[in-house]
Amino acid sequence: MSRSAHPAGPRHADVLPEGHYMAPPADLNVLDPKVWSRTVARAEDGTVSVGGIEVARLAEEFGTPAYFLDETDFRARCRAWREAFGTEADVFYAGKAFLSRAIVRWLQEEGLNLDVCSAGELTTALAAGMPAERIAYHGNNKSPEEIERAVEAGVGRIVLDSFQEIARVAHTAERLGKRQRVQIRVTVGVEAHTHEFIATAHEDQKFGIALAGGQAAEAVRRALKLDGLELIGIHSHIGSQIFDMAGFEVSARRVVRLLAEVRDEHGVELPEIDLGGGLGIAYTSDDDPREPHEIAKALSEIVTRECESAGLATPRISVEPGRAIVGPTAFTLYRVGTVKPLEGLRTYVSVDGGMSDNIRTALYDAEYTVALVSRRSDAEPILVRVVGKHCESGDIVVKDAFLPADLAPGDLIAVPATGAYCRSMASNYNHALRPPVVAVKDGEARVIVRRETEEDLLRLDVG
Ligand code: LLP
Repeated sequence: MSRSAHPAGPRHADVLPEGHYMAPPADLNVLDPKVWSRTVARAEDGTVSVGGIEVARLAEEFGTPAYFLDETDFRARCRAWREAFGTEADVFYAGKAFLSRAIVRWLQEEGLNLDVCSAGELTTALAAGMPAERIAYHGNNKSPEEIERAVEAGVGRIVLDSFQEIARVAHTAERLGKRQRVQIRVTVGVEAHTHEFIATAHEDQKFGIALAGGQAAEAVRRALKLDGLELIGIHSHIGSQIFDMAGFEVSARRVVRLLAEVRDEHGVELPEIDLGGGLGIAYTSDDDPREPHEIAKALSEIVTRECESAGLATPRISVEPGRAIVGPTAFTLYRVGTVKPLEGLRTYVSVDGGMSDNIRTALYDAEYTVALVSRRSDAEPILVRVVGKHCESGDIVVKDAFLPADLAPGDLIAVPATGAYCRSMASNYNHALRPPVVAVKDGEARVIVRRETEEDLLRLDVG
């Protein structure tokens, strides 16, 4: 759905109060495959299913709100990334997007590695049997206990984020009689075109060590001197929900330049570079994401070219997609509670979840779309705002979208592309119970993360 200035004239049902015109889709019953997961389909009779199961049945069995994850799609996306990068590169799924033991098992089966950024994520990965050497450990302020656990477990790499951490990890590894494989995370000075809170390669922010001013070169100098560390490469993550490959290209070029400087100064060719995650997905029909093979081709071409011109052997590349793998594979299913038309403004549709199961709209002004999935409707489209049940007017799930005018309490609506950073950033605000994640595949549905209960709330409340 695109927005533009509205042609002059009286206010129309599809003009936002802010004055923009939003074109309604031609047919609200059509589910755009760009934003819905692979096995989602609407049948002739109007019912919507995922993995061969009707959503109305899923709602009955698992309740709402709930996240439904299309396992077939998740595995297919893992394979697409794996195949696109081939045997010459490694794909690390970024667990922060969404992690559970089932996910870790699927990753292993599909040949992916895993990036974790906390002791909790490490525990989940190890509990599900991910071999430690296939885990990368991130974070800008790893605690001494976290460093110890990661080194002790034997993680394949720790990504160092500060000068203090270089010393801490070296010290811990030496104390444990180990040599820890590490990468240094650098900030390459790229302005990624995304929301400020999810851009990470400009210099004025908390992550990494700046290439500018020789900081990163100094970090390499220190790391190479320490017996507890085996410096295997350089890491750069420029941000998230990015569509334009230009930022990745500049990043790759600057990282390769550092590798050349390291070779010139130390006579050492670092064997790996990691270009992070951050590839955007389609949240609405207006978004046009890149396919994994296009990304792999662009990245490997730029790295190969830059290395050739610097006289370096091409390092092994790794990437860390989170959202691009899990984001499109799930939708959140809600039941409509109230429908409130505000004359001359818009219609508010209240659902049984809200900012506690999807904080992204409030936090990043993220755009989502929504569809009526419990039935077909040929009523005219009306502009709506889908809101939750929390005590905040900013409790918005979908800011502007179209639903049929006959929408009524009891209808089921679904918000697609909520697989990444929704359950993982879910909260208990207002003592909401975090929704379950249900994996659906080939006519079978099973809970992989159960719904929180009131007993769970009271268990933590020990006063
Ligand atoms: N690697 C590193 C070092 C990262 O920090 C991240 C994300 C990723 C990989 C994966 O990025 P992805 O491919 O998923 O974009 N909560 C925000 C996103 C924060 C991302 C943090 N780091 C959101 O909901 O958009």
